[in-house]
Amino acid sequence: MEIKDLTLDREGLIEAIATEDAAFDEQLRAAAYRTKIATVGEKVYLRGLIEISNICVKNCLYCGIRHDIPCQRYELSDDEVLSAAQAAARRHFGSVVIQGGERTDAAFIRKVTRLLKAIKAIDTGEDPPLGITLSLGEQPREVYQEWFEAGAHRYLLRIESSNPNLYRRIHPDDPLHSYERRMQAILDLKEIGYQAGTGAMIGVPFQTTQDLADDLLLYKKLDVPMVGMGPYNPHPDSPLTLSGATYPTAERRFTLGLKMIALLRLLMPDINIAAATSLEALSDSGRVKGILSGANVIMPNVTPEEQMIKYNLYDRKTLVRDGSLKLSLPDDIPVGYGAWGDSLHFKR
Ligand code: 5AD
Ligand code: SF4
Repeated sequence: MEIKDLTLDREGLIEAIATEDAAFDEQLRAAAYRTKIATVGEKVYLRGLIEISNICVKNCLYCGIRHDIPCQRYELSDDEVLSAAQAAARRHFGSVVIQGGERTDAAFIRKVTRLLKAIKAIDTGEDPPLGITLSLGEQPREVYQEWFEAGAHRYLLRIESSNPNLYRRIHPDDPLHSYERRMQAILDLKEIGYQAGTGAMIGVPFQTTQDLADDLLLYKKLDVPMVGMGPYNPHPDSPLTLSGATYPTAERRFTLGLKMIALLRLLMPDINIAAATSLEALSDSGRVKGILSGANVIMPNVTPEEQMIKYNLYDRKTLVRDGSLKLSLPDDIPVGYGAWGDSLHFKR
């Protein structure tokens, strides 16, 4: 397959995803990187990732912190969250992401509201104050509204798969795990005024090439300003792993992860695309390879190490350590220090 023959309709995407032609893949990634530079620019934007709690009410079949997995649970104190945010500010990251398992108890919701206000009040020594992205699952619309008013301006809620049938195969069959409810939550976030991001896992059991193409087309249809998607990595104790369902090799999942980024950059040139942590778990400098394939955001983990190792979503996740600032980004890739790095697409 030749890059000049690539079309971005469903057929073309399916063909590009299916091919295992390394020369084509390399051309595709280079083309996407050129498009990234021409549209959203050379800079990479950083968000300090704060994993606030691994307590979760849900039971997604692939996840290592699902409710029914016996693991040690934690919740960061207010002070721990604020220290992590301050550390991100000192490193001039410009933004933080507060991510956690899904919780809808009133105490947690109030805590997040309180923390949003406190993080907004941190003196970064720069203008603007820290930007805040939330990734705390499905919540009632009023809660999204409350958090928006308290200072969050971006929200990441992955659809996990654009195919409702595949969604049902990798989640328990109950009202807490509804594709329709999840889609509605994404629409709620958009309506409230968030820069709402979504995404899906790449290389999960039962997923077809068509599903992956449809994931990309869904992002386009939803017209989201940001996407965070990444390879599936099995967790040894998850029901999906224990079921013996098969999935692509680690090498293939990594290649597919980069390819999906590249295709999305060509399909939606001016959005923010994150190079997910799960790329790093599969390959050294996996996130930098994501950047060189068209992504423009990296989320270095600033969670205190003692708790970070308990946020064990999948195999090798907790081996990704971001203590150093450099993240092995090549010297010729500039970083957007101190900036929010909002989606150009959203501004337009
Ligand atoms: N492999 C890759 N990603 C996973 N996630 C959860 N479990 C896994 C896994 N086994 C992702 C989901 C979720 C995000 C918090 O982590 O996509 O949205
Ligand atoms: Fe909870 Fe998210 Fe894991 Fe699902 S993927 S069980 S919502 S932490």
